[in-house]
Amino acid sequence: MGLFKKKKKPQQTLQQILDTPLYPTPEPIIPYEFQANPEPYNTAAVTELANNIKAAVAEYQATLPEPEDKLDDEPYEKVYFPATYQIFDEPPEQTDKEKPPNKDRVHNFLNRTAQIPCQIAKVIHAANISTYHIRLNNPMDLKNVKQAVDAMAADFEADIIRKQSRGYGAHFAIAVPRQKRQTVYLKDLLRSSEFCDVYIKPNSLPAVIGTDDENNPVCIDIAKLPHLLCCGTTGSGKSVAINSILISALSERTPKQLQLVLIDPKEVESIAYAGLPHLLFPVVTDMNKAKETLKKCVKIMEQRQKKATELGVRELGEETPHILIVIDEMADLMMTHGRQVEELIVRICQKARAFKMHIICATQSPVAKVVTNLIRANLPARLAFKTSSDVESRIAKGTNGCRELLGKGDGLFIHGDEIRIQAAWNTTAEIEALKRHYGIVEIKEPRKLTCKEEYMLAKLEFYEQQKADGYNYDTEKEKEYRQILSERGLLQE
Ligand SMILES: Nc1ncnc2c1ncn2[C@@H]1O[C@H](COP(=O)(O)OP(=O)(O)OP(=O)(O)O)[C@@H](O)[C@H]1O
Ligand SMILES: [Mg+2]
Repeated sequence: MGLFKKKKKPQQTLQQILDTPLYPTPEPIIPYEFQANPEPYNTAAVTELANNIKAAVAEYQATLPEPEDKLDDEPYEKVYFPATYQIFDEPPEQTDKEKPPNKDRVHNFLNRTAQIPCQIAKVIHAANISTYHIRLNNPMDLKNVKQAVDAMAADFEADIIRKQSRGYGAHFAIAVPRQKRQTVYLKDLLRSSEFCDVYIKPNSLPAVIGTDDENNPVCIDIAKLPHLLCCGTTGSGKSVAINSILISALSERTPKQLQLVLIDPKEVESIAYAGLPHLLFPVVTDMNKAKETLKKCVKIMEQRQKKATELGVRELGEETPHILIVIDEMADLMMTHGRQVEELIVRICQKARAFKMHIICATQSPVAKVVTNLIRANLPARLAFKTSSDVESRIAKGTNGCRELLGKGDGLFIHGDEIRIQAAWNTTAEIEALKRHYGIVEIKEPRKLTCKEEYMLAKLEFYEQQKADGYNYDTEKEKEYRQILSERGLLQE
């Protein structure tokens, strides 16, 4: 008989099994019974115990019910409300109201210097120009008017443009630039009834351009344009005008109604919008990425087309958001990718109206290589600012007339009619206000996992460990979980 009585191996309870660590630690802790035993350390017994524990744990886990996805677990959707004009700061009072340009001076010049007897019927002062409507005493003098206006332009040292007057017979009108121009503040136009008329229409994409030569707000429905080409030399006011369009559209349309794609190779203007929840992709400044982005837009358009066919409708309704693609400076893009980009833009343009996708392209070099015939044909609406030559003016809007514009937002808006406009002024303060209202989305964060997803990921980790340790595990379930998780984009390969 030995000195020590051999102890009977105790029966372990489930709780004890569960309290034991699942995986053997690098240095196994030897149970008390074995330590007390002077016999050599029984490796076989330890391994058996560890196996028993693992089996028991696996058995126990198999009995636990799988959690169900609860409604609360679903990532919630943010509800947005339109910002409206009220979020913007009040524009300053315009104190330095200039005296109306000299009516007598115009009258005297025509009557005395040019010897054309006439009366000034009406004068309208807009922000950039004053329009004089003139009635000739003798209709026969109409043929001398052109010469007289040229002489007056030389005398006034200003580009005076002769216009058709809206009266009958011996009427004409001239547009004389104001010496001190007025600023047209965006907020004043956002609260105008003209803007309201556009934004209350269902399915419209409202935007503010500026004021016309009679000081009336010019507000447009981008959905009807449906694409816009904006030309003008550097500093003529393209970016400011595009910002007015964007800010006014964003002030009335939430991310559910309007999604933006901003392409800005100059990396200056559009960066201010970074973080707005309306952005479909982060602001694109890289030329290669710009091409890829346009390709993605074409894909979205095809998906929309498919959806419309499935629904059996010709146009998509209010539940589909408008997508507005803005390219500030398309010259770089056309120079680097030329044909391909042209093709992508034209593809989007041709079918986009029904599928609610709109393009605004801007360029400071309206030359034939950048603004190709195809692009001109597909972007029918124009916003033309001052150009450096008549050739550029003809490419920008088909006729002369842009060279004489005054710059800084003095422009022509052409959609059917040609309207002389002063573009609305805005600053980054308005964009900041929009960001404060809609909130800023940093880099698209992965959404919160639902509790079932967390469970499946943990299970997969467990299966991996089992596999590494050479134990059996539920391969069917593993396959199923892998498929579900990879479909939801939650597995990193
Ligand atoms: N609507 C406006 N009202 C008042 N000032 C304006 C207006 N538009 C432009 N300006 C003035 O002209 C400057 C240049 O405007 P903007 O940046 O829009 O030019 P641009 O045509 O985009 O030039 P570039 O081709 O170099 O980008 C502005 O900083 C501003 O001082
Ligand atoms: Mg610009």
